[in-house]
Amino acid sequence: MDDTVIDREFAEAVREGLHQRPRRLSSRYFYDARGDRLFQRIMASPEYYPTDCEREILRERGPEIARAIVAGGVFELVELGAGDGSKMGHLLDALHAEGTAFVYRPLDISPHVLDLLAERLCPQRPWLDMQPWAGNYMDWLAQPRRPGVRRVFAFMGSNLGNFEPPADRDFLREIRDSMSADDLLLIGLDLKKSPEVIRAAYDDEGGVTAKFNLNLLRRINRELGADFDLDGFSHRPEYDPDTGAALSYLCSEREQRVRIDALGETFAFVQGECIRTEISQKYDDALIAELAAAAGFEVTADFRDRRGWFTDQLWRPIGPG
Ligand SMILES: C[S@@+](CC[C@H](N)C(=O)[O-])C[C@H]1O[C@@H](n2cnc3c(N)ncnc32)[C@H](O)[C@@H]1O
Repeated sequence: MDDTVIDREFAEAVREGLHQRPRRLSSRYFYDARGDRLFQRIMASPEYYPTDCEREILRERGPEIARAIVAGGVFELVELGAGDGSKMGHLLDALHAEGTAFVYRPLDISPHVLDLLAERLCPQRPWLDMQPWAGNYMDWLAQPRRPGVRRVFAFMGSNLGNFEPPADRDFLREIRDSMSADDLLLIGLDLKKSPEVIRAAYDDEGGVTAKFNLNLLRRINRELGADFDLDGFSHRPEYDPDTGAALSYLCSEREQRVRIDALGETFAFVQGECIRTEISQKYDDALIAELAAAAGFEVTADFRDRRGWFTDQLWRPIGPG
């Protein structure tokens, strides 16, 4: 571990999270190069339905979504947490078919995943004006906006569900505050459904989700000089159908101590003690309506897959900015 390359923000987030009770680590840090690859494998696993559902919506309803976007005039498409672009091609093609030129700005904290996105989307689309940006989308939103450019934000894959309430509302508010009256938000939300289907999605037979979760400890070991024993922690997913919260934990198999050099601290874990690593909130209509209203949006269109498991919605800002 070289002190000049320690990501201080990461180190402080780990310190703060491990001192909390219950302990937490932010899912934002899942996505190093290995995490990106594992997430691609999760998306391809038979149990992980959200990607297939959203792909179906963008493929089947893409032209309708595109018409609703283009109707508002010239725009740029800003995608928050774009990932590898495996679904977005359908919407980009539908927008292109409408005959309007637009800039596509995929934003992601992982430069590696933006390379994958470019490899996937660009070769067959010479017309695509893509301007990727690697960094924290919170920082991008905080920048002053260029005057005169209408923005359509895309926040897909039920990424909102990874924000612990009330951070979900606060983040929607931040998006809302950066919008003008004729801007739009296209948001993908995973809906409540059979608990068995949801539990399986976070506990695939192939064990890829477990590897993805444990990769967070591997990353802390590598980047912060820690000695987490990866065999000493296990992946534990939980789903509460009442609240719609799917939670992932890493639980200590035994009593153990973990040293993190970058923090100059040692953390003691008792057997069975868990670190919460991810929330993936599942939504129903009432929760969506409440969230949209609380953040200053009106739902103007709702596109669902044939099973009704996932929704992509267009939200329009309302009220004072
Ligand atoms: C669950 S993946 C979903 C990717 C894509 N939206 C999809 O639907 O397939 C979340 C993505 O958001 C990115 N991400 C997470 N937190 C971020 C942040 N604060 N700023 C920018 N990107 C972030 C991750 O690197 C990852 O690619």
